[in-house]
Amino acid sequence: MNIICDAGQGAFRLDTPCTSYVMALADGKWLGHVYYGPRLTAEGLDWAHDYWGIDQRPYTPDQFPREEAAFFDRFPMEYPMANTGDFQECCLAVRRGAGLSDCMPEFASCEILPGKPKLDGLPATFGEEADCNTLKITLSDRPTGVVVELYYTAFTRLDVITRSVRIINGGGGTLWLDRALSACLHLPDTTGSMLTLSGSWARECGAQVREIGPGTQGIASCRGISSHQGQPFIAAVSPDVNQERGEVYAMHFVYSGNFLARIEQDQFDRRRMVMGIHPESFSWKLEPGESFQTPEVVMTYSAGGLGKMTRTFHDLYRGHLLRRPYGKRPVLLNNREATYFDFDEARLLEIAGKAAELGMELFVLDDGWFENRPTDSGGLGDWTVDRQKLPHGLAGLAERLQALGLQFGLWMEPEMVSMDSRLYREHPDWAIQTGERRPMLCRDQLVLDLSRPEVEEYVWQRIAGTLHSAPISYLKWDMNRPLTNLGSAEQAHRYVLALYRLQQRIVDQFPDLLLENCCSGGGRFDPGMLYYSPQIWCSDDTDAVERLSIQQGTAMLYPLSCIGAHVSGCPNHIAGRMTPFHTRGIVAMAGTFGYELDGDRSSPTGIFKESWYGFCVCKPMTRTQKDSRPSRMV
Ligand code: DGJ
Repeated sequence: MNIICDAGQGAFRLDTPCTSYVMALADGKWLGHVYYGPRLTAEGLDWAHDYWGIDQRPYTPDQFPREEAAFFDRFPMEYPMANTGDFQECCLAVRRGAGLSDCMPEFASCEILPGKPKLDGLPATFGEEADCNTLKITLSDRPTGVVVELYYTAFTRLDVITRSVRIINGGGGTLWLDRALSACLHLPDTTGSMLTLSGSWARECGAQVREIGPGTQGIASCRGISSHQGQPFIAAVSPDVNQERGEVYAMHFVYSGNFLARIEQDQFDRRRMVMGIHPESFSWKLEPGESFQTPEVVMTYSAGGLGKMTRTFHDLYRGHLLRRPYGKRPVLLNNREATYFDFDEARLLEIAGKAAELGMELFVLDDGWFENRPTDSGGLGDWTVDRQKLPHGLAGLAERLQALGLQFGLWMEPEMVSMDSRLYREHPDWAIQTGERRPMLCRDQLVLDLSRPEVEEYVWQRIAGTLHSAPISYLKWDMNRPLTNLGSAEQAHRYVLALYRLQQRIVDQFPDLLLENCCSGGGRFDPGMLYYSPQIWCSDDTDAVERLSIQQGTAMLYPLSCIGAHVSGCPNHIAGRMTPFHTRGIVAMAGTFGYELDGDRSSPTGIFKESWYGFCVCKPMTRTQKDSRPSRMV
């Protein structure tokens, strides 16, 4: 058993092959963090309470009631609460009638669960009894009736501890959770720097290392998606860290919406790292007996630098997050950069014919196959095949592709509605909006309010109807704008929950379908989406040179088999750069590998000819030019 749960002694310990995590109770009720780091060799936990030095001032509240607040200001609370004397980033803020908001859950019980319980309605890593065990610690607060269940799963063969929290209203009145984060970790002094992965559209996942200073620092998203701007990941690292050496304390969020990942350095220069759903625009109503489940945080410690961290995440995601192995992925050709919206069946079959000759296995029809879609300004939401472009429909096209020996894949953007669509004309209120002003357009489109059951059901019917209408073996699920004009503080999270239900239905009802998620490239490349789709389009930037840093940052956390990467034509449509075909091939091979070009213009001879021009005939954009592009997602 890799967990010690000793309520009598008031100490708890989780072990993974090379790490240990220890907590203990002060005054028999306040759960505090004691240790996370290299695996402890000594057995037992007698020392755990001495670790804080609570024999020195300030004493614990029981010993020194005069200075209770000083204790909370200093104590490394495992799940800190707002408005209680713990003045750092907290995890829990509860509001009751008349705005009362102090809540101080005390230790109530603990138990060990074999394996890992599922998370209600949320994606999460999984494991059987042989893989992991779970420690559940329950805290409760009498005045508010709040019960907090803290879940820690320790893997037996991987240096991973996952964390999540369930908050229950065990009292008699209504409660609102204004903040319900998933994890807090107190960091040792050795971690002076912070690593995040940030960027923008077409520039995702750039690694940033900063020195940690007083106050808060971190990364976050309030866009309703995990976002191009910040991967839901944070690590505290020792300043000397590199691929082989140095310490890393990392957290990665299994969630696809708003998030907050922060490190705070306090007046004593101690550092605390927290992660969870972003509290801005978040509030969750809990009636008596109801509960709220936070998403999961994956936590790992490495004493072997970033390389060890990466290998741990890869092994975890390959073995305990991706639910279907999907061994060899088909080599695909996507028509996006070959034609954009300018195609018909004949043109597609020409490109597909070349693709088949070159040994490709799957033809993916991207945006533009449905009515009212000559550009990206209309048609979303209706999903009726454009018979002018495709006179034989999707089934007819699939049949012709099959005759060429190709499987058929299709693009959809199910979460969206264009104002110029039948759906919007019939149900304008189905778009997310406050009702007080016209919601903000982005790419000329609005977001459907999936938090409404009738909207979720409509979207499902359109997806299922389309997938049943032809032999479709691959679906590219796209999402091309952030959420704005939300009408309630629960909406953003309810939206994500509905998104997960829809993806789950696809997985259940189309078990052989290869699902690739996409969000204008890597706008929702996160472990939550990876639970449903084994691959995610990594960036709209297909320039091989720029892809090097984008894919390198992405691969810091995700296995290469998940990273959507294609060989595209030259000059590159985003960077304007000419790159040898060989280089483009190698970069795409460090991902799922496919093509996104016009086979006519890049026939084998053409493609290979280009490889002799190993220089830029088009000047690539400078970083400043690139950054000054509009940030609109395309
Ligand atoms: C954004 C995606 O990232 C692209 O690959 C492409 O599918 C377009 N959307 C289509 O509108």
